[in-house]
Amino acid sequence: AAVLAREAGYDGVEVMGSEGYLINQFLASETNLRADQWGGDFERRCRFPEAILSRMREAVGEDFLIMYRLSMLDLVAGGSNWEEIERLAQRVERAGTNIINTGIGWHEARIPTIATMVPRGGFRFVTKKLMGAVNVPLVTTNRFNDPATCEEALAEGCADMISMARPFLADPHLVKKARLSRAKDINTCIGCNQACLDHVFKRKVSSCLVNPRACHESDFPAIPRPEASQSAADRGGQGGKQLAGRRIAVVGGGPAGMSAALERARLGADVVLFERQAQLGGQFLLAQHIPGKFEFNETIRYFETQLAHLGVDVRLGTVATTEDVAAFDE
Ligand SMILES: Cc1cc2nc3c(=O)[nH]c(=O)nc-3n(C[C@H](O)[C@H](O)[C@H](O)COP(=O)(O)O)c2cc1C
Ligand code: SF4
Repeated sequence: AAVLAREAGYDGVEVMGSEGYLINQFLASETNLRADQWGGDFERRCRFPEAILSRMREAVGEDFLIMYRLSMLDLVAGGSNWEEIERLAQRVERAGTNIINTGIGWHEARIPTIATMVPRGGFRFVTKKLMGAVNVPLVTTNRFNDPATCEEALAEGCADMISMARPFLADPHLVKKARLSRAKDINTCIGCNQACLDHVFKRKVSSCLVNPRACHESDFPAIPRPEASQSAADRGGQGGKQLAGRRIAVVGGGPAGMSAALERARLGADVVLFERQAQLGGQFLLAQHIPGKFEFNETIRYFETQLAHLGVDVRLGTVATTEDVAAFDE
């Protein structure tokens, strides 16, 4: 598989040694019940990942990255102890690994590892314990969803690098925005799992609650495809501003209204958003107060910032009347 990845143009691969998958099962005495050279004492339980890594290195050569995701906290009975984890890290380094990533918890673990209730970067202390025990860079992970928390973890010496997964579904431009010091423009992953992992477990295409375009980019392009009946001049002829000059009223500043206003403003429309409450957010205002759901406030912040950037006229504390909306095109 690593050779195929290399041929396909990738710079490296990650070997999945955590989360309770096969390699992890070989490592834990609770699940590895073999009595041959692949099971028994710790040395023999390590042979499986070692064999994979050394054969892989042999096959791909030296100038290809091999990362190993090491379960540093199994969170299940009969998992590896810390001494074993440290020794395993040294062994996978010797077997040809360039970078070690952190794995937290088997899928069978009953302790939340990525849900919103896990504090941002809450497992960084686990990776920190391994710092200094190996010579290769260490990556820490889970619930890093904003640049400030990443910077904090690096400054605290918790890891050499930070891994993010879901935050890129929520906002594929996260790194660029962080680099430009535009953290307020990031559409933040709220850790809900509702459209990413929940979809995967139902064999549906993964997406994102706060960015439904994720993994559906060609179904819902940011700039709508022209209708076949449109003339060449009309087809995107206005630089993607197909709604330029149109006046559009959106009634209700909850998630749907904020999103509708934003998408139309992006296409060049003059948008007025009516909200009878004193704040934008709708149901999300309520949701953010439920314990473990505080990240919903980030979604409201994201929309507020974007609506302001695009000059949407937000009328708070205003009930839209028929007269108010009569003058609009839509
Ligand atoms: C849809 C989805 C699929 C994932 N698949 C894998 C996987 O195949 N291998 C893996 O090591 N982790 C996988 N993960 C877990 C992520 O690598 C990551 O550890 C986890 O989402 C926590 O980090 P985050 O808070 O940055 O998302 C997946 C996560 C999601 C949301
Ligand atoms: S659905 Fe989106 S916001 Fe929710 S956890 Fe997944 S990536 Fe994050």
